Amino acid sequence: MKGILLAGGNGTRLKPLTNLISKQLLPIYDKPLIFYSLSVLMLAGVREIAIVTKADQQPFFESLLGNGSNFGISITYFVQEKPEGISQAFLICREFIMNQPVMLVLGDNIFYGPGFGTSLEQMKTISGAQIFAIKVDDPSQYGVVEINSDGMIIEIVEKPLESKSKLAIPGMYFFDSSVTSRAEKLTKSDRGEFEITSLIETYQKDNSLKLNILPRGTTWFDCGTVNSMCDASSYVRVIEEKQGLKIGCIEEIAWRNGWISHEMLSEIVDKYRESEYGNYLMKITEE
Ligand code: DAU
Repeated sequence: MKGILLAGGNGTRLKPLTNLISKQLLPIYDKPLIFYSLSVLMLAGVREIAIVTKADQQPFFESLLGNGSNFGISITYFVQEKPEGISQAFLICREFIMNQPVMLVLGDNIFYGPGFGTSLEQMKTISGAQIFAIKVDDPSQYGVVEINSDGMIIEIVEKPLESKSKLAIPGMYFFDSSVTSRAEKLTKSDRGEFEITSLIETYQKDNSLKLNILPRGTTWFDCGTVNSMCDASSYVRVIEEKQGLKIGCIEEIAWRNGWISHEMLSEIVDKYRESEYGNYLMKITEE
């Protein structure tokens, strides 16, 4: 399975923070926002990853993450000239996908919950598409799924003004190898984007869409606004301080997955020696 991490967009709702730098490079407590979405792909066991960015931002992402070898993965970078919608990622990355199934994660999403990583591992053999839903109080800013009393999907709508459903679709999706040919046939929505919800709808029409409602204890942030970034930072800080464990620590995940050696992790510890992040990595190498 291939992975796509979408880290383009203009970060309009975060200006002037995003005048110079992409939202996904901004900090959420002790690490760049992109670490969290990258960690979700890694927890799912996905090692071949495409990162889609704006052209002028690509060098920054490259100098942060390189070719991925420090984390036991391979990263290929792609440019999205204009933010014309999430589904465009499948056209931009066509050559990278090579007709394989794809896990897509949005670079401004953060997930945390019990058993989260292990539950994702099972999605690797996908037929059709798998989406997730999580209950939110105000779903109007998200893609929303409406289900009937039997749990069957009735409708999927992008940012509904009014909705009977409070089930938001978070930015993590699994698609089978037909995804690129489906994306090719999409047309732009009224707001001028190739919507992810339109792509998902093609699977719904074929009865090949699966929905998994994330358990109540799952935490999800879409860091699209200043408030949500602050909330996420506070949340990460509280959990990390209480548990003494980091959320979204990509070096730790690579090491625990057996993708990098103990020696490689020690070299990274040396690089971060002066920081609290480095101290944490040192602590886990001594486990
Ligand atoms: O966070 C989940 C929500 O993400 C979903 O519920 C919605 O269905 C989905 O459309 C999306 O809504 P947002 O309004 O949060 O999307 P946003 O424009 O913030 O973009 C999400 C991420 O994708 C962000 O990291 C920027 C990136 N992106 C977005 C677009 C539209 C791109 O790289 N290129 C794009 O063209």
